[in-house]
Amino acid sequence: MLAEKILTTEQQELIAGLTAENKYINPKYFYDKKGSELFEEITQLDEYYPTRTERSILTQYANEISDYVPKGSVIVEPGAGACEKIQLILEAVHPKAYLPQDVSRRFLQQAAGRLKDKFKWLEIEPIVSDFSKPLVIPQRYQADDLYVFYPGSTVGNFEPENAKTFLSNMRKLVGDSGGMLIGMDLQKESSVIESAYNDAKGVTAEFNLNMLNNVNRHLDSKLDLQKFSHKAFYNNELNRIEMHLISNEDQRYELLNNELHFAQGETIHTENSYKFSLDCIEHLAENTGFKRVKTWMDKDELFSLNFFQSA
Ligand code: TRP
Repeated sequence: MLAEKILTTEQQELIAGLTAENKYINPKYFYDKKGSELFEEITQLDEYYPTRTERSILTQYANEISDYVPKGSVIVEPGAGACEKIQLILEAVHPKAYLPQDVSRRFLQQAAGRLKDKFKWLEIEPIVSDFSKPLVIPQRYQADDLYVFYPGSTVGNFEPENAKTFLSNMRKLVGDSGGMLIGMDLQKESSVIESAYNDAKGVTAEFNLNMLNNVNRHLDSKLDLQKFSHKAFYNNELNRIEMHLISNEDQRYELLNNELHFAQGETIHTENSYKFSLDCIEHLAENTGFKRVKTWMDKDELFSLNFFQSA
């Protein structure tokens, strides 16, 4: 008799997605070492306007932002990664403490160390945790004025229901006197969005396809990157850009005792990135216990940085 293999949580999750009626892979599988490097490269592409535009907004309006996030407050950043964008406003806002949260202890500690060298006056308290658990602030900061910093339009990668849950949780975290500084990408002519996710050099395609390398490593499978192509298109009804990997031909694989079939043209859905109107932003704030009190934009109105006050 064949012994049943015991599958890891990741393997179960990947197999569930790949054998579903509409195939999908959780976007967290983008970010292996190579994927993180490719994403970094994406943020520097001419076509990929969000990162550059948000950085320019943070730089240009740092002093105005300090009117909303008061001096001496405590700033929490979920998914802080390399802690780069916060640096653009630290001098102007001058918080008492900065609490970056992320999943990798080593990565977070390195980032915090570099930050400490540059901003000697700042208390830095890294929080290592993953998204499956609620974010917990160390006791000694709980009585302070708390503000959440959430740049990058990451909120647009959540499904609308999950975005609401996330923001409601942030509202609970900051309490009645706090707020949130949140980056949100704006709705615009779809060709501009589509080229941001279909760059001429093909870095985005490589990034999307690289996810299959990561899947192969987890499942000990042999999905052939040559037999898939990157596809990104704007969905006008749902106001989101959808990322897919499309199968170039009819193909079959064996996946840890599961038969996997791709028809030619069938896709694996890898991520959505919702784009917002000022009305959507206002409603999202209202539905989650906040009030949108200020929005900063670049002159072309490509991207927005919003201050939500607890309501
Ligand atoms: N979270 C990023 C975004 O929504 C991820 C991203 C950028 C991405 N380019 C991509 C995901 C291309 C898939 C394919 O903008």
